[in-house]
Amino acid sequence: MCGIVGYVGKDECASLLVKCLKRLEYRGYDSAGIAVFEKGRIKTVKAKGKIAEGLQKKLDEKCPHGTCGIGHTRWATHGEPSDINSHPIGNGRVSVVHNGIIENYREIKESLMRHGYGFESETDTEAAVKLLDYYYSGDPIDAISKMMAKVEGAYALGILFRDFPDRIYAVRKESPLIVGKGRGENFIASDVTAILDHTKEYYILEHGEIAEITENAITFYDASSGDTVEKEVQVADWDIEAAQKGGYEHFMLKEIHEQPSALRNTISPRIKDGLPDFSECGLTDEMIRNYRQIWIVGCGSAMHAGMVGKYVTEELARIPVNVDIASEFKYRDPLIKENDLCIIISQSGETADTKAALELANKAGADTLAIVNVVGSSIAREAKMVMYTNAGPEISVCSTKAYAVQCAFMYLVAFKVAYAVGTITEDECRKLCGELCGIPDIVAKCIEEKEQYQFVASKLINADSLLYIGRGLDYALSMEGSLKLKEISYIHSESYAAGELKHGTISLIDENMPVIAVATQERLFDKTQSNVKEVKSRGAKVVLICKEGAAVDEASVDYKVQLPGIRDLLMPLVTIVPLQLIAYYTAVLLGRDVDMPRNLAKSVTVE
Ligand code: G6P
Repeated sequence: MCGIVGYVGKDECASLLVKCLKRLEYRGYDSAGIAVFEKGRIKTVKAKGKIAEGLQKKLDEKCPHGTCGIGHTRWATHGEPSDINSHPIGNGRVSVVHNGIIENYREIKESLMRHGYGFESETDTEAAVKLLDYYYSGDPIDAISKMMAKVEGAYALGILFRDFPDRIYAVRKESPLIVGKGRGENFIASDVTAILDHTKEYYILEHGEIAEITENAITFYDASSGDTVEKEVQVADWDIEAAQKGGYEHFMLKEIHEQPSALRNTISPRIKDGLPDFSECGLTDEMIRNYRQIWIVGCGSAMHAGMVGKYVTEELARIPVNVDIASEFKYRDPLIKENDLCIIISQSGETADTKAALELANKAGADTLAIVNVVGSSIAREAKMVMYTNAGPEISVCSTKAYAVQCAFMYLVAFKVAYAVGTITEDECRKLCGELCGIPDIVAKCIEEKEQYQFVASKLINADSLLYIGRGLDYALSMEGSLKLKEISYIHSESYAAGELKHGTISLIDENMPVIAVATQERLFDKTQSNVKEVKSRGAKVVLICKEGAAVDEASVDYKVQLPGIRDLLMPLVTIVPLQLIAYYTAVLLGRDVDMPRNLAKSVTVE
C-alpha cells in the first residue's frame, strides 16, 4: 500500500527517485510523484496513473533539479486516484509522502480549519501535513513529535521542511520504513529492494522513532522522549539482479521460473541428517507434543498455502488444524488459547490484517510462529518464533514463488509435527523429507511444458466466467488457481469443492462456462471424474489436470494436462505450476498488465 522513497546526497535526485519508485510500484500504482529541493524551494511534480504513463511524462517536460527529495507511488485509500490526491502533499513549507491511514483525519481537519487552514485534496495525509505546519516553529523534531501525539492510525512518512533543504525526516508507526546508509548519500524507502542499486546497508525504523537524514549523517530520535537512539545497521542479502526482470517479459514469469531454486533455498536448510530441523526458531518436539491444536492464518495466497498445511498436517499428524482468513480471524473472537500453536504466513510480513491476527494470537498466549519472506518485517519481529522462506524478492503483485515456498514450509511443519507426536516413524519421516528434496527438479520440468499451458489459455480467453473444481488437496489448489486467473486476467472464476457442485452451483454450467478440474489425488480421482462427467454432460468445456497414467474417461474432457506421478500428498507443489502458467498465458493473450493488475497492490498495509 503505497511506496515511499527519499534521497539526500550529491547526485541529481529526480531520476534517481523515479528509478527507486519503479521498484516499489508493486505497492500501488494509482499515481506517483516527487518533491525536490531546487534552490531552496520545494518543487513538486505528481500525476495520476502508473509512473511511466503519468509522472515520467511530466518530468520529461519539466524536471526539478536538486540533490535532496522524496517520492511516492500510491494505492488510493482516501480520495480517488487524481493529480491533486497524489503525493507528495505539501504547502510550500512542509511536504509529505505517506504510507498508511490517518484514522482521525476528519477531526484534525475540522480543528485546523477553525485555525484558518484550507484543504485541497480528499486525502487523510493532508491532515498530517497541515498539522505539522501548525506545530512547526523552527524545530522539525518537535513538530513531528507533537503531530505524532495527535495522529491516530498507521503511517510511515517522509517529510521535507523548507527551512532544512539539506535533509529528510522520516517517521513510522506500524507501516514499514527503512533508512538506507550509503557513502556520502542516504535514503529512506518502504522496502530495501528500492535502494539495492545504491546500498545494501540499512536501518529499520521502529514504531515511534524519528530519523533525521543528511548526506553524511543519520540520527534517530525517540518521539516521546526526544532522546537520540543508537541502532544496529542491517545488511540485505538480496542482490539487485533479484529485483530485476533478467530478460523475462514479466516479473511473474521470472518468479515462476525461480520456483525450483526458491524451493531448494527453503527446504534444504531445514532438513538435517534427513529429518526436519526447526532449531533456528526454537520449536522443540516437547513444545509440539503439548499443543492442543494448530491455527494457520494469512491472507490471499498465504491463506491458500495454509489450506495445504491443514490437509497435510491433519493427515500425517492427526492434530486439529484451523485455517483462517486473517481479516475474519481477528474479529470473530477465535477460541485460541495457550497450548495452541498459531502459524502466521506472510510473504511481505507487513499485511495489516495478518499482523493484527498475530497480535491477537500473541495476546491469547498461544505460541506464534511466523513464516515470512521479508527479513526483519513487522510480522517476523513480532512473532515469538520466525522462519524465513528464502524466496528472494517477489515483485509481481500476483504471488507465485512465495506461495510455492509457503506450501513447501507447510510440508516441513507437517513432517516435523507428525514425527514429534509419533504418528509417523523415523523411516517414514526420512522418506518424506527425501521426496520433498526431489520436488524442485520435478517443478523445473513442469515449467518447461509451456506449449500445453499456452494452448489451454487460448481456449479460455473468450470465457466470462470459469469454475475450478477439486477435492481435498486438489480443492486447496483450485482456490489458488482461481485466484491467480481472476487476479491477472480479470476473468471471473470461482473454486468449488467438486462434491458440492450439485448443491447449487451446477445450475451455472452451460457451454459458456469452462471448468478446470484438478484431480491429482488417486484416492479421490473417480469421485472427481464423476463430477467432471456431470459438468461435461451439461455442456461445459473441461480442462483436466491429472497425473500421468490416470484412468481418464477421454470422452468427458476436452483438454488434459498431465503431471509427473509422484506421491499424492506432495502433488500440490507440482500442480501449482500449470495453474500459475495457465493464468499467466491467459492474461498475456488478453493483453493485461500482468505484473500490475488493476486495483491491486502487493503489500496490503491497510485493513
Ligand atoms: C495481497 C497480494 C497477495 C498476497 C496477499 C497476502 O493481496 O496481492 O498476492 O497473497 O496480499 O500478502 P502477504 O505479504 O501477507 O503474503
